[in-house]
Amino acid sequence: MWWSSLPSLALAASALASVHDQAVLSTDDPHAGPAQPAKQPNVVFFLTDDQDVHLSSLDYMPFVKRHLLDKGTYFSRHYCTTAVCCPSRVTLWTGKAAHNTNITDVNPPYGGYGRFIEQGFNDKYLPVWLQEAGYNTYYTGKLFNVHTLWNYDSPYPAGFTSTDFLLDPGTYNYLNSTFQRNQEKPKNYEGQYSTDVLAEKAYGLLDEAVQADKPFFLTIAPNAPHCNIHMHSYSDDGNQHETDFGPPVAAKRHEHLFEGVKVPRTENFNPDEPSGANWIRDLKKQNQTNLDFNDNFYRKRLQALQAVDEMVDMLFKKLEAYGIMDNTYIVYSTDNGFHIGQHRLQPGKSCGVEEDIHIPLIIRGPGVGENETTDIVTTHTDLAPTFFNILGIPLRTDFDGAAFPITKRGLQDLAVVERKEHVNVEYWGFAGSEGAYGYGPMDSFNNTYKALRVIGPGYNLYYSVWCNNEHELYDMSNDPGQLQNLLHPSQSHQKHKLLNLPIGNVIARLDSLLFVLKSCKGLRCTKPWHTLHPQGDVTTLQDALSVRFDHFYEVEQKRVVFDRCERGYLPESEGPMWEDSGKAFGGMEMFYRGGLHWSEYV
Ligand SMILES: *[C@@H]1O[C@H](CO)[C@@H](O)[C@H](O)[C@H]1NC(C)=O
Ligand SMILES: *[C@@H]1O[C@H](CO)[C@@H](O)[C@H](O)[C@H]1NC(C)=O
Ligand SMILES: *[C@@H]1O[C@H](CO)[C@@H](O)[C@H](O)[C@H]1NC(C)=O
Ligand SMILES: *[C@@H]1O[C@H](CO)[C@@H](O)[C@H](O)[C@H]1NC(C)=O
Ligand SMILES: *[C@@H]1O[C@H](CO)[C@@H](O)[C@H](O)[C@H]1NC(C)=O
Repeated sequence: MWWSSLPSLALAASALASVHDQAVLSTDDPHAGPAQPAKQPNVVFFLTDDQDVHLSSLDYMPFVKRHLLDKGTYFSRHYCTTAVCCPSRVTLWTGKAAHNTNITDVNPPYGGYGRFIEQGFNDKYLPVWLQEAGYNTYYTGKLFNVHTLWNYDSPYPAGFTSTDFLLDPGTYNYLNSTFQRNQEKPKNYEGQYSTDVLAEKAYGLLDEAVQADKPFFLTIAPNAPHCNIHMHSYSDDGNQHETDFGPPVAAKRHEHLFEGVKVPRTENFNPDEPSGANWIRDLKKQNQTNLDFNDNFYRKRLQALQAVDEMVDMLFKKLEAYGIMDNTYIVYSTDNGFHIGQHRLQPGKSCGVEEDIHIPLIIRGPGVGENETTDIVTTHTDLAPTFFNILGIPLRTDFDGAAFPITKRGLQDLAVVERKEHVNVEYWGFAGSEGAYGYGPMDSFNNTYKALRVIGPGYNLYYSVWCNNEHELYDMSNDPGQLQNLLHPSQSHQKHKLLNLPIGNVIARLDSLLFVLKSCKGLRCTKPWHTLHPQGDVTTLQDALSVRFDHFYEVEQKRVVFDRCERGYLPESEGPMWEDSGKAFGGMEMFYRGGLHWSEYV
């Protein structure tokens, strides 16, 4: 049956080729031949910090709506794969999953700018590759965590034509930021509003870029709407002594906006019954004092985004004045999402919940549909390959993500080829509260888990395995707020059906998919079903659910299991790996805390 996959693979290749053609042609005429290769296009990339989809922040950004949503395409199923700044940003800039960068935390020893250098990525990431392809590259704002007054020049980030980075300890201090331009000494902006300082720098870099008369890639990375952090003292090993977290700070002119606006009271907001798993399930319901604090925190996020929104407007005015709109892609996204109160969580990120992993992505530019929404499943791991594709640079073979089409025609062509259904989510370490009320001292310490989103025709699922071997499964077609964990011990006796099958049949497939993905590299990350079915006759969960694969999935496959909780990616704590055929696990090992066995589901 191997030949049955050929037509779809061939179509996939031609769809990608046409995406590429159209991107560089910048024409709306689908019959235009490849005769006139246009100038290499420019990119302006807005990268905010901790911006949500589910708290409706985009509804409060009229200029983002006018310039980007109304004139571009909204990617309604875009995900980060590690829901915290530094790992997610490294994934974005390298096109590699966090388990392959091994940059899994914000601070040392497993994360931060120093770790990025140590792991050898300073000459293996997008800005360097863009320069090799003839681009000028510009950056202002936050690059990574623990990029500081003390380590900014040892060495300087490679691959940039001109930069003006936010540095710690001022990165998250809205009224005492420090910026560091090119190879100059850092400059402190005490008393000035950081997003406004950054906006001026962004306009300046755009002017430089246009004057240089070369194709350019400009990244504008404000710290908003991240919480405000005041680091009283700071040591270069990444230990931030005496650090105060507080709500984001608005510019004076926005301080009084949105009076009475509150966190959307969705079904999963501060629910009466505990939800989630592990430490999240132990959280207490929030009292009124806590809710009031968090609602104010929410308003401060919306206020802090207003200065970003104004900057977006001014950038578009400048692009229009320069007459380069028809050859420039404008991309808007963030590093990870945010929760406030869902599942009783305090303000923060780091969790696998939809609020933390599902993030905004909007693209406007030549050939891109206007005022459109696409529901293709895309991730931050796909962004570097996608940028390569848009700019006409041949793809690298070591990307863990895949280029996705962005133009109207490319997305139409995609309707007939194999579509990616999965997002591989992973996390190691600690989950913090950024509000006034914390968690118990150790509660959120073991926040290590692997998870999957699988979205396809007739299914919309979240599956996770925690480092204590608790499992979660949410049927998000019926339970978008992720309130009913179908694998919680209290649910076991019900013998649920899912997708009209015994639930165990579905879990076996999801677990095998996660098993392949948790250590995947390259193509195995984007085409995991091909790894399980090398003949190519299975490309979706739907295909894999066929009864003829019951024995294969339910008996023959190894399971995702942890030996213990670690704060970093220590493979010896994470059970068998796909590559490691020595440790055979059948389908019967203990399945989650509560003592139920795999066999009860099958
Ligand atoms: C965008 O599309 C929606 C419906 O799909 C329509 O109501 C709205 O007017 C459109 N907006 C613009 C600016 O074209
Ligand atoms: C502002 O930041 C600078 C540089 O980190 C620091 O020296 C100064 O004390 C800070 N000012 C305040 C008011 O915290
Ligand atoms: C509300 O909850 C917070 C966080 O648990 C607690 O510190 C505070 O004492 C509570 N306040 C009241 C009035 O119960
Ligand atoms: C975290 O996990 C470690 C190792 O698995 C365990 O020893 C420890 O008790 C756990 N801590 C909490 C607070 O659950
Ligand atoms: C990730 O880094 C940690 C700390 O440096 C190391 O112990 C671990 O083996 C690394 N993991 C992999 C898969 O290389």
